[in-house]
Amino acid sequence: MEHSCFAQAIKEFNVPAAALSQVAACVRYDIEQGLIDGFSSLKMLKSYIGLPAGNESGEYLALDFGGTNLRAALVQLKGNGNFNILKKVAKPLKFSGLYDFTGPDSTSSDLFDFIATVIDEAIDGDRKKKYYLGHTFSFPSSQTNIYNAKLITWTKEFATKGVVGETVNDLLKQALARQGVVNVEPVAVINDTVAVLLAAAYQSTDTYIGSIYATGHNTCYFETDTSKIEKPMIINLEIGGFNKLSINKYDKKLDSVSEHPYEQRLEKMVSGRYLGELFAFCVQDIFKLPAKPSFTSVDLSHILEDTDPGLSSTIKLFHTHTGITLTKDDAVALQELVTAIMNRSARLTAATYCGILWHIFPKAIPSHKIFIDGSLFEKVPSAARNMQQALSEVLGENAAKISLELENGGSILGAAVAAAMSK
Ligand code: GLC
Repeated sequence: MEHSCFAQAIKEFNVPAAALSQVAACVRYDIEQGLIDGFSSLKMLKSYIGLPAGNESGEYLALDFGGTNLRAALVQLKGNGNFNILKKVAKPLKFSGLYDFTGPDSTSSDLFDFIATVIDEAIDGDRKKKYYLGHTFSFPSSQTNIYNAKLITWTKEFATKGVVGETVNDLLKQALARQGVVNVEPVAVINDTVAVLLAAAYQSTDTYIGSIYATGHNTCYFETDTSKIEKPMIINLEIGGFNKLSINKYDKKLDSVSEHPYEQRLEKMVSGRYLGELFAFCVQDIFKLPAKPSFTSVDLSHILEDTDPGLSSTIKLFHTHTGITLTKDDAVALQELVTAIMNRSARLTAATYCGILWHIFPKAIPSHKIFIDGSLFEKVPSAARNMQQALSEVLGENAAKISLELENGGSILGAAVAAAMSK
């Protein structure tokens, strides 16, 4: 293989420090425009929930919908940031050859009936005890209070019919009634980023930012400026829609075949749902393949983690997906390409955090924790390192004051905390 082909593709994913600073400045600008209803690529969705006190207690049901798996759990909040997960059920939303509740062939009742059966399993079919449910619904929704959330548009390539424009908790209530589960009452609906921030703030202070870096990517923050919003509350930025970014030819190709072209510009460059596909477009181009092969972000992680000097797993994985046997040199170049794609993702994500920090702390950045949940942050060891490096490039010495913390399972805990806060 001609190595200049690899080199060219790798170059396409390079984001220099100056570009990161520009992204950060544009994010801050878009936040501030969004708050005054000016022209902004950020949806800036109000959550109608603030930060928890940490003493919330009681037993709540938590539902986490919006990634690869659907989860329902019974959570006991014990106050002082303590909690127990009493029961947890997880089911994939699509199962090859059997069902796919995320695709256009499924309807809202197919999807919500499935959700109701999973909730029923989490309460062991109990029809007596009253359960209050917090619902983490990880899509852009417009809210008028903590209960009412209408889906604005699907993202992450979800396409289930009959949900856009609907109040998701009403759909859930109706499905629970069809199932005979009338003792479960949905009381709060929140975005997964909001759940991460609630979960983090339930356990520690000094945190205003929650983020998801997984199948999808998004961030929320706690806004206190009551000249712009009616009361202090968490704002879901829907940062995945940020679009002041320069895109390369692979981004363009990916966009053109996506469910919603021109939308979710940042998300399509950084999140797990798309990284494998971006890589696949590069491979198709480099090897001049008639069709795009299929790769996922999990494949990319495997390639990154291949520490064998002969890169034997990379060569094997690539052969399984394309039928092509790489030379050792090609495998090295391929690993560099994966590194470049992953690095760009982490660097752009960190740049957006800088823009948010500048907005929250316009005078001086204090010591602050940003809580992040998601497989890309948790399972790709280079992610946190690359993000920290990008923070230094944009914030200089102030970067040392920012720590990026994993909030594992925040979607479940946050949903329970939201239910408790709404009672
Ligand atoms: C997508 C959704 C957003 C969610 C994120 C992470 O970007 O639009 O609401 O927070 O994925 O799951």
